[in-house]
Amino acid sequence: MRVLVVGSGGREHALIKKIKQSPKVDYIACCPGNGGISYDAECFNVGATDIEGVVALAKEISADLVVVAPDDPLVLGMVNALEAEGFKTFGPRAEAAIIEGSKVFSKNLMLKYNIPTAEYKVFESPADVIGYIKDKNEFPTVIKADGLALGKGVIIPESLEEAEAGVREIMEDKIFGESGSRVVVEEFLTGPEVSVLAFTDGKCVKPMVSSMDHKRALDGDKGLNTGGMGTVSPNPYYTDEVAAECMEKIFIPTINAMNSEGRTFKGCLYFGLMITPKGPKVIEYNCRFGDPETQVVLPRLKTDIIDIFEAINNETLSDLDIEWSDEACTCVIMASGGYPKSYPKGIEIKGLTDGQLDGVTVYHAGTAIKDGKLVTAGGRVLGVTALGSDIKEALAKSYKAVEAISFEGAHFRKDIGRRALEALK
Ligand code: AMP
Ligand code: GLY
Repeated sequence: MRVLVVGSGGREHALIKKIKQSPKVDYIACCPGNGGISYDAECFNVGATDIEGVVALAKEISADLVVVAPDDPLVLGMVNALEAEGFKTFGPRAEAAIIEGSKVFSKNLMLKYNIPTAEYKVFESPADVIGYIKDKNEFPTVIKADGLALGKGVIIPESLEEAEAGVREIMEDKIFGESGSRVVVEEFLTGPEVSVLAFTDGKCVKPMVSSMDHKRALDGDKGLNTGGMGTVSPNPYYTDEVAAECMEKIFIPTINAMNSEGRTFKGCLYFGLMITPKGPKVIEYNCRFGDPETQVVLPRLKTDIIDIFEAINNETLSDLDIEWSDEACTCVIMASGGYPKSYPKGIEIKGLTDGQLDGVTVYHAGTAIKDGKLVTAGGRVLGVTALGSDIKEALAKSYKAVEAISFEGAHFRKDIGRRALEALK
């Protein structure tokens, strides 16, 4: 089989390394890919949102399967375009990807089908939002841009002044573009967060092993929200009891709701959950694999991922037994100095041979090869990932490797997995 993976981050690198393990696959391409991915797949300089370009590339390389990994091409309808040309794909069509593409859509879906989530209201004018927040006078509150915003479209103001500033940025300055034309204001929930990625063919849903993301830039969950600074799997808060409740009240109802709306979801559906004192609630849906959740989930997958993709395409997922390793997996992100704000690029990365290091798997997120040298090319640069008999052992391996890798200004959190370890005590 010849497989094309669309995207360029650590998630895509993790997908490619897993696809490479399949005996069915003899060629993998990636667009646009990155420096580290080029050791595992042939990279083509076609942008991840360039639908015509990706369709043309799929034809040129005679792809048997195209895996569309990032949110924006999915929301833009890349899978629809590929299917129209007869390609087999992995990823939801645009009409289903809207579950991530519009917070207003997903909140209304949950309300309509009684899926537990934070209470909310939708607003289209800054004055109305501020009037509402002022009347309610409950802080912190949560304001979310309706559309895609690179995982950064959520603000949690502690005061009316902060809320006013945030609403101005999202709705007037449009820092997330048209994503901020509408906003959702919702109730602030508390409790540990769990990420659950799930395979679904629209008929059945098979959750993968759980994970915990660390979204803030700095230790102790301080600093700005990022795409994710590290992950561990499993997530100790996701007990068998919680899992059973999520299956019954969230996962199955969501698949059914999408079918009822004529928006059957096929692919990987990501449930961002919060385990509140009143039970698990949905914080967000993503229409794709999480990043950096994928980096700790897929290394634990024992079943051939191509068999899973094929079962989803054939709508026979319920017949497939998906197996997972009992090992724990941890990923520590090494980011460019300054991320998630502006950061330099093109800085040489030292300590790796052909992009890798013994004892760990280094998933490349933002790297390039320039004049034969591996250099930084993004905010999140590397995801240093290890398997171990438990989270503690895996973390020790990840952090030992992080110490051996360097680039000027490199920033990483030193407390990835701490909360998980505390929960296990
Ligand atoms: P999202 O992009 O929707 O996942 O939101 C980013 C982060 O904001 C989440 O991972 C949570 O930590 C936080 N968050 C989002 N919604 C809420 C909420 N209703 N209550 C408390 N925290 C929230
Ligand atoms: N790590 C969070 C996300 O992929 O959206």
